[in-house]
Amino acid sequence: MKIDPLQIIEKFYAPGTRLYDILVNHSRIVTDKSLDIARSLPHLNPDLEFIETAAMLHDIGIFLTRSESIGCFGKASYVCHGYLGRELLDELGLPPEYGMVSERHTGAGITRKNIVLNKLPLPQRDMVPLSLEEKIICAADKYHSKNPKFSGRNITTADVIKGLRKINSDHAERFILWAEEFGL
Ligand SMILES: [Fe+2]
Repeated sequence: MKIDPLQIIEKFYAPGTRLYDILVNHSRIVTDKSLDIARSLPHLNPDLEFIETAAMLHDIGIFLTRSESIGCFGKASYVCHGYLGRELLDELGLPPEYGMVSERHTGAGITRKNIVLNKLPLPQRDMVPLSLEEKIICAADKYHSKNPKFSGRNITTADVIKGLRKINSDHAERFILWAEEFGL
């Protein structure tokens, strides 16, 4: 099944709008970074074709959330954009692996425990990357900000770890393992 990610994005985002440009620019940068990481790991045999499409779609849910700095005026809290994106992709009939990438990419994934303890407005289930492709896309996403104020900034692995530590140490610990595994 050949999936055209831009055709899917354009079902929800109008070309020429600020949000479309922010989303597509970010998604392309994350896709390129994901493919760079994947190509450096031939011994793990990542699925490049899947990564190329799934990375383009990982943030499809942002328009349903509120983040005014990037032009999102939806109702849901921004942290919901991953699982809401999964719902959109599932409803379109895509194989479930695409939705899982979206659901599991926020932070370094979010555990059920974290959701419960912090009363996050999310379904109470583990949303942590499990497959190699999920981990690669989640990790690559951390190196680029959609916020135009920061989007030109070069984010290092140390910066990513510092940022995740501010959320909580579990996020940082998970990311550190991937950074070691992927040579980031
Ligand atoms: Fe992203």
